[in-house]
Amino acid sequence: MSRKILVTSALPYANGSIHLGHLVEYIQTDIWVRFQKMQGHECHYVCADDTHGTPIMLRAEKEGITPEALIEKVHKEHSDDFADFLVEFDNYHSTNSEENRELACGIYKALKANNKIAMNTIEQFFDPVKAMFLPDRFIKGECPKCHAKDQYGDSCEVCGATYNPTELINPYSAVSGAAPVRKETEHYFFKLSECESFLKEWTRSGTLQNEAANKMGEWFASGLSDWDISRDAPYFGFEIPDAPGKYFYVWLDAPIGYMASFKNLCEKKGLDFDEYWKRDSTTELYHFIGKDILYFHALFWPATLEYSGYRKPTQIFAHGFLTVNGEKMSKSRGTFITARSYLDHVKNPEYLRYYYAAKLNGSMEDIDLNLEDFVARVNSDLVGKYINIASRTAGFISKRFDGKLHGVTNHPVIQELKNAAPEIAKCYENRDYSRALREIMRLADQANADVATAAPWVTAKQEGQEAEAALLLDCSGALEMFRLLTIYLKPALPELAKNIEAFLNVPPLTWNSVNNSFVTGHTINEYKHLITRLDPKFIETMTEANKENLQATPQPTSITKAEAMNDESNYISIDDFTKVDLRIARIVEANHVEGAEKLLQLTLDIGEEKPRNVFAGIKSAYDPATLVGRLTVMVANLAPRKMKFGMSEGMVLAASDERGGPFILSPDSGAEAGMRVK
Ligand code: MSP
Ligand code: ZN
Repeated sequence: MSRKILVTSALPYANGSIHLGHLVEYIQTDIWVRFQKMQGHECHYVCADDTHGTPIMLRAEKEGITPEALIEKVHKEHSDDFADFLVEFDNYHSTNSEENRELACGIYKALKANNKIAMNTIEQFFDPVKAMFLPDRFIKGECPKCHAKDQYGDSCEVCGATYNPTELINPYSAVSGAAPVRKETEHYFFKLSECESFLKEWTRSGTLQNEAANKMGEWFASGLSDWDISRDAPYFGFEIPDAPGKYFYVWLDAPIGYMASFKNLCEKKGLDFDEYWKRDSTTELYHFIGKDILYFHALFWPATLEYSGYRKPTQIFAHGFLTVNGEKMSKSRGTFITARSYLDHVKNPEYLRYYYAAKLNGSMEDIDLNLEDFVARVNSDLVGKYINIASRTAGFISKRFDGKLHGVTNHPVIQELKNAAPEIAKCYENRDYSRALREIMRLADQANADVATAAPWVTAKQEGQEAEAALLLDCSGALEMFRLLTIYLKPALPELAKNIEAFLNVPPLTWNSVNNSFVTGHTINEYKHLITRLDPKFIETMTEANKENLQATPQPTSITKAEAMNDESNYISIDDFTKVDLRIARIVEANHVEGAEKLLQLTLDIGEEKPRNVFAGIKSAYDPATLVGRLTVMVANLAPRKMKFGMSEGMVLAASDERGGPFILSPDSGAEAGMRVK
């Protein structure tokens, strides 16, 4: 039965570029939508830029343009980035649209009529120079826990503490630098505390992944507070009806942007908006989001919909965060990579689509883009296994049989490939793409083994009709397998599939095409190169290009740990210090460690007979070849530690924090291996 499905991805903020982290979500959603469309379902995929709020207002001001001009520029950029990554929205709208204003005001009025809006006087920080109330992020000061300077109003980047901006020591406005004053103001609140029993019930109705439902349990346990949904002028957003100078907080109108984008699509395409959003709708509604915004989507959003008379989401699909080489994306390591930068260097978006698909499993676990593994995986799976099937067989069909295939039935591998369709479909439906691709590659292995056994390149050299017939059947069969694999991979690799459809001379493949087969006499087009190997040097130039010159950018000055510890009990005695045997060491050898994501193996000469073997977590920052011959500092009397990769006999000193690193220490020239450091 054909389903009617509305799908959204979270709306990216209009104050920054799309990066590889965002793309996890848009690629995940796009694959799912393409799969649903291939199934023959009516599926609409909408998104928009999230355009409101203080950061966007201030950034526009800084650039000397209006917020409208800024969001228009970014809308174009984002649209291009998504299109170039083959993320195919049915509509990409803006939260700063008439549709959204109408819907947001309508929903607010309905909530008010349902007695779900309260007004409270609160005290907030106010910038007296800029004459505006300040969001937490725009207040900085000294961390109340570790005393690091210049920390944000909500959390400390040095020690990780979270707190209220009122707890900051010597707070200042990040906008003007002025000391903020406390000022009273009236805000509107959505009475979330009254929605608890509804939300508990909704949580239990199968709308959330287990991990997300557990998180909800924690939130219920700590109690739901009313939600502050208004902000004072100056603010870039929608003014609240009958409340001059008060604006909807960006997160109030952002999810309504899903509806607005769909409404705009309905106007363009003549679809029925109410059919999808009315309370008792039988259509399906899915929101793909990152785990960081679960609170908004699993608490505020369903409650908003419930008490304003709309339907609730069928399911919320939350995913984890992207790490690169096992760590948070980092500007100093060059792993904070924008969508555009990837395209400039690596070019082919389908490599990334394939790799993300191979990693995504429908859970909220973080996913890691290991750049070495990325290259290896793409080359071995896509080039080595999949495309190889066609590249080894198609030429014979063109050259020897005028491009004409012979129908192949009763081939066991083809049968197995066809039988796998329901299982693969189930994996896609459940967003377990990694399992789908494992199965598809297992089948590709079988197809390759079959080609290897048939060895058409040998048959091609044999004379006689029998060899001729075998050659035709073997190559036709291989291309049938290739066609089936292409169906299965099409949600992840739509552009490649399109080129293959042209090459195989078939209409756009759908899931149902599994039930077709090539018939005798079907003519294919000449095989042209379909994909190139991914050259690892592109990855290198990409990360190089993204490495931010740390000297050039002003960095927050954080005080040392010792300064922070004004409590004497935290000091160590000189005796404690001299217990540490620090030595100048010469790196005589440096190697990668197989299977280790962060470690390099170093052989260190410290003037002793036997050099030391040390594993150091510096792989992200150093090419081992460049280390050989260098002097550094090591702790020579650290108890040896047995690690997975061998014994580590000491420790190399290196500096790092959120600004970058690791940077290993070196002595001034003149120092020699074995010297003691005191
Ligand atoms: N504007 C809000 C969403 C409003 S939805 C009504 C927002 N924008 S965002 O630009 O910060 O993020 C957009 C989406 O990308 C979010 O779902 C977020 O979780 C996701 N990601 C942003 N960085 C990410 C990673 N590093 N890794 C994976 N997903 C990430 O939040
Ligand atoms: Zn701190």
